[in-house]
Amino acid sequence: MSFTILGTGKAVPEYVMTNDELSTMVETSDEWIRTRTGIEERRVCKSETLTDLTVTAAKAALEDAGITAAGLDLIICSTMRGENITPSQGCMIQKELGADCPAFDVNAACSGFIYALDIADGYFVRKKVKHVLIVSMDNLSNITDWTDRSTCVLFGDGGAAAVLGEGDDLLSINITAKGDDRVLIIPHGSNSSPFYEHEEKKAVLHMMGNEVYKFAVKAMADGITKSVQDAGLALSDVDCVIPHQANIRIINASAKNLDIDREKFFCNVQHYGNTSSGSVPLALDEASHSGFIKKGDIIAMCAFGAGLTTGSCVIRWNK
Ligand SMILES: CC(C)(COP(=O)(O)OP(=O)(O)OC[C@H]1O[C@@H](n2cnc3c(N)ncnc32)[C@H](O)[C@@H]1OP(=O)(O)O)[C@@H](O)C(=O)NCCC(=O)NCCS
Repeated sequence: MSFTILGTGKAVPEYVMTNDELSTMVETSDEWIRTRTGIEERRVCKSETLTDLTVTAAKAALEDAGITAAGLDLIICSTMRGENITPSQGCMIQKELGADCPAFDVNAACSGFIYALDIADGYFVRKKVKHVLIVSMDNLSNITDWTDRSTCVLFGDGGAAAVLGEGDDLLSINITAKGDDRVLIIPHGSNSSPFYEHEEKKAVLHMMGNEVYKFAVKAMADGITKSVQDAGLALSDVDCVIPHQANIRIINASAKNLDIDREKFFCNVQHYGNTSSGSVPLALDEASHSGFIKKGDIIAMCAFGAGLTTGSCVIRWNK
């Protein structure tokens, strides 16, 4: 197909919040969080802004790819909430990098990185671009209800970027959506209109965890199976899986359902929790720089999130 991944780069806030610290804020424990989710700690923004993190990740990815911002033809930022309603986060990144190309945001919650890859694929196929920067980043700590133990233990801040160039290493890609605002929603906060007649909901994450869990386990199995088939491959051809890092139990169940060796699944959820759109590229970046993936590997990536959205793809790693 249309592109190859030339480089990746990550950015996470400095502040590490442990399960023990969370246990001083809500009625929970390190043991409960570890056994139910696999999460040990997460990063939380204090001094960093979303723009700081997106730009840091973008610069690291450009350096890894060996190109400069002047060589970019398009910037796509996947995020649920940019620093401002407008300008887009993509435009903020473009400004800070000094790039001269179109830039916009896409919101597909935790599936955002794979949605952005699918959009970029179209630009490469139409031969409108030679280099595309994707930055996937969310700042969930500012939309988390820090008094709700059933959700605040699950999430963290951070993400990563990828630079794409022309190539044929995207072997298949699929995105889906199933409109649903019941099981996972983050409403807008304030409405400045004195004419508006509807009740304002609190601008924090509301989730029915069990429902999302069931959706997630099916989404992972269905998404990876379809993308591997579309690539003309068998599950046994997959060298590595980069799954959305939401809960270690979802990853373990997916490995079992797919009958793919659990050791092929890259996991860093223990350090970051669920960073939403940032999760898959953050895992991809760490898998790349730690040597977990090697040149020539067949990689399946899969994500699910609010929407409800899913995204899956198969790529050949060529770095
Ligand atoms: C949220 C999730 C970890 C909950 O795990 P679970 O094993 O299903 O736990 P339950 O919701 O059934 O809760 C079990 C008990 O633990 C309690 N509990 C919930 N959160 C707790 C916490 N942080 N600490 C201690 N106890 C907690 C519940 O109140 C419940 O108590 P009860 O039995 O007395 O009613 C799990 O459902 C999940 O991971 N869902 C997917 C979420 C997700 O991935 N969201 C992002 C999608 S992109």
